[in-house]
Amino acid sequence: MSAAALKAPFPYFGGKSSAAVDVWDRLGRPKQYIEPFCGSAAMLLAAPEPASLEVIGDQNFYVANFWRALKFHPDEVWSWQDYPVSHVDLFARHRWLTEPSRTAALRDALVDADWPGDPKIAGWWLWGQCCWIGSGWCDPRRPGNAGGEPRSDSDVSDSGRGTQAASLGQIPHVSDGSSGEPVRQWLTALSRRLQRVRIVHGDWSRCLNHHYGDTETAVFLDPPYKAYEKLYSSGAAAIADAVADWARAHGRLRVALCGHVGDYDMPGWTVHAWSRGRLTYGGDKTTDDECIWFSPACLRPSPGRTIWRCSVKRTALKRRTPLKAKRWGIKYKSPRRLTRPGADSGYIHWLHSQPCCVCGNEGTGPASCWGEIQASHIRKQTGLGLKPPDRQTLAMHQGAHEDWEQRKGVFAGWADGTRWAWAAPLIAESNEAYDRYCAARARKVAA
Ligand SMILES: C[S@@+](CC[C@H](N)C(=O)[O-])C[C@H]1O[C@@H](n2cnc3c(N)ncnc32)[C@H](O)[C@@H]1O
Ligand SMILES: [Zn+2]
Repeated sequence: MSAAALKAPFPYFGGKSSAAVDVWDRLGRPKQYIEPFCGSAAMLLAAPEPASLEVIGDQNFYVANFWRALKFHPDEVWSWQDYPVSHVDLFARHRWLTEPSRTAALRDALVDADWPGDPKIAGWWLWGQCCWIGSGWCDPRRPGNAGGEPRSDSDVSDSGRGTQAASLGQIPHVSDGSSGEPVRQWLTALSRRLQRVRIVHGDWSRCLNHHYGDTETAVFLDPPYKAYEKLYSSGAAAIADAVADWARAHGRLRVALCGHVGDYDMPGWTVHAWSRGRLTYGGDKTTDDECIWFSPACLRPSPGRTIWRCSVKRTALKRRTPLKAKRWGIKYKSPRRLTRPGADSGYIHWLHSQPCCVCGNEGTGPASCWGEIQASHIRKQTGLGLKPPDRQTLAMHQGAHEDWEQRKGVFAGWADGTRWAWAAPLIAESNEAYDRYCAARARKVAA
């Protein structure tokens, strides 16, 4: 199996495989790679090539044990997971897996970073993770799991997901006694990929002890989202804030931080908005308004690759054509003619010199983002009505502007809320940049 085909053999709440191409576009080919909230290790497995030092970790001991056991005992993990979907066994195995003395022993053993994992726990956990509906397998904190019992919405007639559901294209029948050979090959390939990966159990900070210097170090941070604080009552927001603090202090590394739009203030970082276009497992909140912040040390996105914006000042310094004093100079006292409420021709004019907020390019964009830079007025809601004020406008290439207006291209399928959640911070930032520009210009004229 090729490295490109490597995927986790189980579904995972908050998995990031759909953002992987864009993330690796910005992380490049680091020498060290660290993923302290690995879950399904989607980002590690999607790496274009393995780094020389790779560390993944997770506080969930079933997750850490799974990757550890898979690394050292792929065949045993395979044989323990190779079992048809069965409702009765799901309950029995859940009870066995969550038995307190067993989980305490597992946690103790995992402290030793060289302990090779327990393949039976790994195999049974994998099997349940794949036939369980929704999130919450082996998680007594989830709603409906009072007393550590699993939710009972799994159905024997359901062919399940993950290894039992779609073993590399096959959907095995629950009772067909399939040998599961494709799954064995899948797990073997994953095990091979993990041979040089260090797998840590515990708090995210433990992974960062393994960071041996700044040269080309990439860190992918995907902590539990603040919005799920209530769901888990697990201090998700406190963890997320501590992670963001660490990230801000380490912007010299290539760091990617995941969250919902508005979760963090990361001055000088770029933000990439993305959309899964579906609901998360077990949640009623769509994942539409997710985004990833990239540290200043990350690579620039390939042209046309991503929707991004930059919080770095890019005003007067970026200007390629000289200012026309006659038009802009303070000495003329009334550079802006306000012809209708909200009109601000100075801002609109300035916007034309700004980079496109979709592709990030000034002047000409890539083929996918064609045309001149235009000022795109952003309506908060759809429908007719007054033209929004000029300050509620973003710089976009003509192609992106049309996509925005007609809800196609990169904006296809975006709900009104998503559109506004993406645009509002960009508008605020653009306005601030313009104000800074005006202030700098006024100082220059006064000098
Ligand atoms: C959003 S998920 C990560 C998903 C992952 N990026 C993927 O693609 O599957 C967050 C993960 O952080 C783990 N976690 C929660 N608190 C943690 C902590 N304090 N330290 C390390 N991991 C933690 C959870 O067990 C969960 O697997
Ligand atoms: Zn563009």
